[in-house]
Amino acid sequence: MGAFKDFVAPRYELKEAVRDVSFQINKGEIVGYIGPNGAGKSTTIKMMVGILVPTAGRIEIGGLAPYDNRLENSRKIGVVFGQRTQLWWDIPVIETYKLMQYIYKISNEQYEHNIRQFSEILGIDEFMYTPVRQLSLGQRMRADLCAALLHNPEILYLDEPTIGLDVDVKERVRGFIKEVNRTRETTVILTTHDTSDLDKLCSRVMVIDQGELMYDGELDYLKRNYSKCDILTIETESEMPEQWLRERFNDAYTREGRKCHIRIEQEQESSADCIAWFIHNSRVKDVQIRQTDIDEVIRNLYQTFKQAERE
Ligand SMILES: Nc1ncnc2c1ncn2[C@@H]1O[C@H](COP(=O)(O)OP(=O)(O)OP(=O)(O)O)[C@@H](O)[C@H]1O
Ligand SMILES: [Mg+2]
Repeated sequence: MGAFKDFVAPRYELKEAVRDVSFQINKGEIVGYIGPNGAGKSTTIKMMVGILVPTAGRIEIGGLAPYDNRLENSRKIGVVFGQRTQLWWDIPVIETYKLMQYIYKISNEQYEHNIRQFSEILGIDEFMYTPVRQLSLGQRMRADLCAALLHNPEILYLDEPTIGLDVDVKERVRGFIKEVNRTRETTVILTTHDTSDLDKLCSRVMVIDQGELMYDGELDYLKRNYSKCDILTIETESEMPEQWLRERFNDAYTREGRKCHIRIEQEQESSADCIAWFIHNSRVKDVQIRQTDIDEVIRNLYQTFKQAERE
């Protein structure tokens, strides 16, 4: 009934998916494009590859507007949407590649060279003759990556290329992206929810929220400014008296028996001073420092956005 109603009397609502997003990317860069669900990442990528036409503003990729020059643009780009496949469902992987060779007019030499190199790094030869419908997610993703790169594109768009992959395949995919970027100077634009992708691949990140660009710059800067604290864990031979800890650290500590976890806020406290204090007052058995990981940084960043909205 709902489907029928939608068909005869559809209701429309205007949605601004991206607004005032401006950036420039140089040849050979790997840029991470991140943001919460529904932020507008895929929409930006779709505009850049020419699937969507922006209602306002301008996009130029190598001097061309992608949506006006779709054919020419598509020769220069490779695209992988982690959620979808561009491989033909019913035929073996190799047949898709042959079709691509024909469509993109790839020379035999380049084709052979690429297939050989991709097999080496990604191990696609294991399932080259299997129909795509029988591939596992990780195999399909690897096959898709190769398909996107067969014609030696200058730019590679990756929309969540590591979604759902196991640790080993993730690592291989990352290694492959890095290698392609290094050896062919391919520009890579990567959206992901897996922060270790960023750590391994990108020095620059752009953060989008609710359709607006909130940050564009070094990943390291982001880490330094949005990591709130380090956690120092010290194990002593006997339990530290509660009162000493309270006097020294106020409420910046928690304890589990002989272990104390101290929150180190860099501007107020130094780990070295803390460790010295423990050594002075007890026999220390073990010391560990855990730095804020990138996940925490991104969480802090998104929370800051949410807070700013409420205010
Ligand atoms: N074809 C469409 N028609 C209407 N609204 C859309 C369409 N595609 C996306 N949107 C809306 O635009 C907004 C941005 O969506 P987009 O897919 O770009 O988000 P995203 O950042 O890629 O999110 P995710 O991390 O979940 O993939 C969302 O609110 C979404 O509901
Ligand atoms: Mg998306």
